[in-house]
Amino acid sequence: AADAKTVVVTAAHMIDVLGGKRVDNPQVTIVDGRITTVGRKGDAVPAGADRVDLGERTLLPGLIDMHVHLTSDPTLSGYRQLEFTDNFWTVVGVANARKTLDAGFTTVRNVGSANYDDVALNQGIERGYVPGPRIVPATYALGATGGHCDATEYPPSIQVPHPQIANTPDEFRGAVRTIRKYGAEVVKVCMTGGVLSKTDSVGAQQISLAEIKAIVQEAHMLGMKVAVHAHGVEGINDALRAGVDTIEHASLADAESFKLAKASGAWFDMDIYDDDYILAEGAKNGVFPESLEKERQVGLKQRQTFRAAHAAGVRMLFGTDGGVYPNGNNALQFAKMVEWGMTPIEAIQAATSSAAVALGRTADVGAIDRGRFGDLIAVDGDPLTDVRQLEHPSFVMKGGAMVIAPK
Ligand code: ARG
Repeated sequence: AADAKTVVVTAAHMIDVLGGKRVDNPQVTIVDGRITTVGRKGDAVPAGADRVDLGERTLLPGLIDMHVHLTSDPTLSGYRQLEFTDNFWTVVGVANARKTLDAGFTTVRNVGSANYDDVALNQGIERGYVPGPRIVPATYALGATGGHCDATEYPPSIQVPHPQIANTPDEFRGAVRTIRKYGAEVVKVCMTGGVLSKTDSVGAQQISLAEIKAIVQEAHMLGMKVAVHAHGVEGINDALRAGVDTIEHASLADAESFKLAKASGAWFDMDIYDDDYILAEGAKNGVFPESLEKERQVGLKQRQTFRAAHAAGVRMLFGTDGGVYPNGNNALQFAKMVEWGMTPIEAIQAATSSAAVALGRTADVGAIDRGRFGDLIAVDGDPLTDVRQLEHPSFVMKGGAMVIAPK
């Protein structure tokens, strides 16, 4: 069309995540937000195109974080949350959405928030009211009474509403239908205990095999994937037997888990940076002492499991649990993934091409590839020799629109 908006981006290098290699002198053309050609510097440039030359920088696809909570702030942990009105957290989400996008994360999966505030945030971003990444919202995480995703830190006289707590397979089916009705695009389920919840045991299974099977069947029927919070091995393995799509945390997974995941094609999405942050800042931030104790039980084990799962050939994603540490610092996890066994290209693929596959969004995100959104970042050095380059992108573009302009 005559009024199409065309942008041509050139750089010295590009990480081709689909090919798993670095290429020189890329030239990427974006028309009305989507990539139309990926060629070489010197190729023809459409008349009237805007030009962005990134000099010596290395171009990459916009990053994807498969596990965030944009509406959480770790400095307001434990009972500190009681100081704030319900919709305060949506406002927190507005600030965190901008920080996350500025950090080079152009897509996130938001796996759990109250009040459908991730749907609101996504609508505000999509309509251009506030800047932020593309959001795949889960809305309320489903869970059992007294489980990790229920509010268990209050006495019986104080009722905290959570409409998606359920206790039978049929109730969970209804919960899946309800969250989809109000905007969920993925189903998050709290299958075992957790760290930051006050009263449950971190490894204990909280949802039965029959219940998770019902959730998976219902979600898949409706075209939604299922993301399962699970630290404990029994819960991980029953979730895998039920055919879930991603295991979040996966801290105490064992060889049987690896076998089940490889057989079903499920992904592990392990937040292996968080242990550092929680142990350093948690007490100061108001994290419950019980939670700090639970973190000491699983933190190191989770990293060892990450290494073993990757070595065993389990498919891995990049998911950080943003909100457990300050949103916007997501890229700190890349160095941990390399420290615990991945090559830099594997860690980058976990946050790009693999994430797109796990989201079922290979037509849209996760690679610099014809047809996908013009979601691009650039770093000054070589991320394949120093993955920490990803901690400070000097250029961010979303849908062909400049977010951070190169200096
Ligand atoms: N949301 C998770 C939970 O409360 C955070 C776990 C963080 N710790 C870790 N080692 N990954 O269970």
